Amino acid sequence: MKNVKNYLSENKDRFLNEIIELLKIPSVSADPAFSQDVLDAAEMVKSRLEDAGCDVVEIHETAGYPIVYGEKIINPDLPTVLVYGHYDVQPAEPLELWTSPPYEPVIKKTDKHPEGAIFARGACDDKGQMYMHVKALELMVKTDQLPCNVKFMIEGEEEVGSNNLSIYVAENKEKLVNDVILISDTGMIANDVPSITTGLRGLSYVEVEVTGPNRDLHSGLYGGAVANPINILTKMIASLHDENNHITIPGFYDKVEELSADERAEMAKAPFSIEKYQEALDIESVYGEKGYSTNERNSIRPTLDVNGIWGGYIGEGAKTVIASKAYAKISMRLVPNQDWREITELFKTHFEAIAPKGVKVVVKPHHGGQGYVTPIDTTAYQAASKAYETTFGKKPIPQRSGGSIPIVSLFEKELKSKTILMGFGLDSDAIHSPNEHFGVWNYFKGIETIPYFYEYFTEMTKK
Ligand code: BES
Ligand code: MN
Ligand code: MN
Repeated sequence: MKNVKNYLSENKDRFLNEIIELLKIPSVSADPAFSQDVLDAAEMVKSRLEDAGCDVVEIHETAGYPIVYGEKIINPDLPTVLVYGHYDVQPAEPLELWTSPPYEPVIKKTDKHPEGAIFARGACDDKGQMYMHVKALELMVKTDQLPCNVKFMIEGEEEVGSNNLSIYVAENKEKLVNDVILISDTGMIANDVPSITTGLRGLSYVEVEVTGPNRDLHSGLYGGAVANPINILTKMIASLHDENNHITIPGFYDKVEELSADERAEMAKAPFSIEKYQEALDIESVYGEKGYSTNERNSIRPTLDVNGIWGGYIGEGAKTVIASKAYAKISMRLVPNQDWREITELFKTHFEAIAPKGVKVVVKPHHGGQGYVTPIDTTAYQAASKAYETTFGKKPIPQRSGGSIPIVSLFEKELKSKTILMGFGLDSDAIHSPNEHFGVWNYFKGIETIPYFYEYFTEMTKK
């Protein structure tokens, strides 16, 4: 690859302005109030893929939001890279915690991003990272260096479970044929410690409802004499972990893949400061499963967390009431070999079993997906590693992430190809939180690194 840095510096402002335009669209897939915006975002992605040099770009309608498909096939004998990303974003709430409005992108300096970071919902997850691939394609096309074929598949429902993409993938296997799938929707350790994500956790997401009496009651007249659903729900939830923070659901750990001592020792080599970690979160101590390090707890171990809990009176002042119902949303992050449907079933059986007489319990499964681990002895991983070495001057560390992109395991099942997770975000970039941002340096580093992956992957794949 030649002239990569030149092309970047010549087009720096335009590359920034373009991503800022895309970030102005509030493409929140979870909230129907934004449905036109989600469609607008798809249209913008389509026209940007055309501008970048795709020969074919299509908007594929689904039962939900469309999938933007683009391709540039230069020679069927050359390898094909399939890029996946998403143009939808998480809701921006709570809005009052944003230091600048979520859909009015601004560049501000931070400790981790001395060259500035773009603050906006979706800056890192995933518009900013997805758009790096669009600009990398432009760079390769405009400098006449695209070494292989490329396909893009950018969806608008990642943040709500990718249900329609699953159908699309199963129905379009021929069209989507590829030699490797490339995704930037994860992170790396630090700007001076590049890493490649080699694992994602699976997910089972459920909602529970506990019903006590058939109506809200006066907490004086009835208090003490009937099961209070909120008391019961919190007690049931508390019992899901034991004193060592192991999950108590029978069978939960049966299929968990245990790592060898060697693999754990290898993991422990990744640079990590517990002091800095605690300081960044303003906590006095970390907390978690006994016998595992922080990095193990949030990557190779399964978890169970309440994501939201409600019921009763939460308005101004006090109201003396025993609510009829209490609710919680619970996520379980899963590791390789745990099957999300099986875990959901185990949860349901157990949660129903531990409910005392006097309440009724309903468990509603939401969505889920399998975890993913990518081997590092493949051509694709080696090519990615070499690309990082070229642009960061350092060999990247393979690292398993705690997050989930459930569609990745489905790609492997349906399309039979491996995925390379080239994430350029930092954990501190606040994805899904107020003040999400993406480093300007990271954005350009991504655009710089991607073309080298294409180059090395093509070289190493040629027979
Ligand atoms: N891009 C994230 C996942 C991610 C982030 C993985 C950072 C690794 C590192 C993705 O958009 C996401 O938020 N996934 C959801 C699951 C999905 C089914 C809603 C998640 O992990 O909660
Ligand atoms: Mn994402
Ligand atoms: Mn996300």
